[in-house]
Amino acid sequence: MLYIQPAIFSTLAFASWAAANLVPSPIFKRADTWGGSVSLGPTKSTIVKAVTTIIPGPAPPTQNGVLFLWPGMSNGTGDLIQATLESWQSNSWCGATTGQWCVRASVFGWFGQLDGNPSPVSGSDQVRIEYALQADKNTWLQTVTNAVTGALLSTYSSPSGPYMRGYGTGTECNDNCSGTIAAQSYINTVITLASADTTFGGTIATAGGATYSGLTSSDGGKVWSIASISIPAMSKAPQTTTTSKTTTKATTASTKTTTKANTTGGSGGCSAPQYAQCGGNGFAGCTSCASPYTCKLQNEWYSQCL
Ligand SMILES: *[C@@H]1O[C@H](CO)[C@@H](O)[C@H](O)[C@H]1NC(C)=O
Ligand SMILES: *[C@@H]1O[C@H](CO)[C@@H](O)[C@H](O)[C@H]1NC(C)=O
Ligand SMILES: *[C@@H]1O[C@H](CO)[C@@H](O)[C@H](O)[C@H]1NC(C)=O
Repeated sequence: MLYIQPAIFSTLAFASWAAANLVPSPIFKRADTWGGSVSLGPTKSTIVKAVTTIIPGPAPPTQNGVLFLWPGMSNGTGDLIQATLESWQSNSWCGATTGQWCVRASVFGWFGQLDGNPSPVSGSDQVRIEYALQADKNTWLQTVTNAVTGALLSTYSSPSGPYMRGYGTGTECNDNCSGTIAAQSYINTVITLASADTTFGGTIATAGGATYSGLTSSDGGKVWSIASISIPAMSKAPQTTTTSKTTTKATTASTKTTTKANTTGGSGGCSAPQYAQCGGNGFAGCTSCASPYTCKLQNEWYSQCL
């Protein structure tokens, strides 16, 4: 596990993969913190298409850990579709220069993290991220383009199934990252459902100072749009101060999963978005979930905001 590619280590997903496979990893330290978020779901229907355009603002000029921005879609138990804008200590692996992000289509599931080809993007770029269920009703095609020029930045296709029910933004800080230094905007977000669900808009939730405007529906509640989402820059101070403890007796021990009660909001508090990990043996990140989600025990190694 130590030799796993850094990219696999660093996403939301790795912990749940480890959890799902019941792999105790005493060497694995996590101290995730989260920026603001906006999310919707679960729908009574299913999502068949989701499009948004993110304007990420400049990436931190120096990076202490790893920082990810993503719009994510899942049903809580299956794959997490999450095209990611990434900030690493060096982003030269995608051709980016200081202040630029690397973007790539990406999916996380029981298999780990799988990524499309990456491209660099600048802070003022408009990065359009589309997830579309294909005619076979099983394959999701992710298409990432520059919304202004139409240039293709990344694609990925995965058999992630027809039961997607939740969608939301994530600003995820791993390994004591340097947080976002500017706000992110997500504009022209449009989520299309398989059938009308007039209650879907009512499931919208915000955390960490994120705001949205222009939530509307059409087609009797089948198509939902959010004109604008704004995620504030993260404060310099880490939002979660818990340091991880590594446990050496991995396999034995009836370890208890901590599912601490909420400490949502306020400076110094934290709130993990929908579908984020919020507990589990060895987990040292944020254990509070953004309202209305609660931290649900999945197994000894993994609790999740649902
Ligand atoms: C989530 O999607 C997967 C893949 O299609 C499916 O196997 C699973 O049953 C779904 N779970 C829920 C809770 O809908
Ligand atoms: C996080 O990074 C900062 C800046 O590099 C450092 O001062 C601090 O000690 C680090 N904290 C942890 C828990 O590693
Ligand atoms: C969050 O914590 C506060 C203070 O302990 C409590 O009053 C409130 O009911 C809690 N909210 C939830 C959703 O658990």
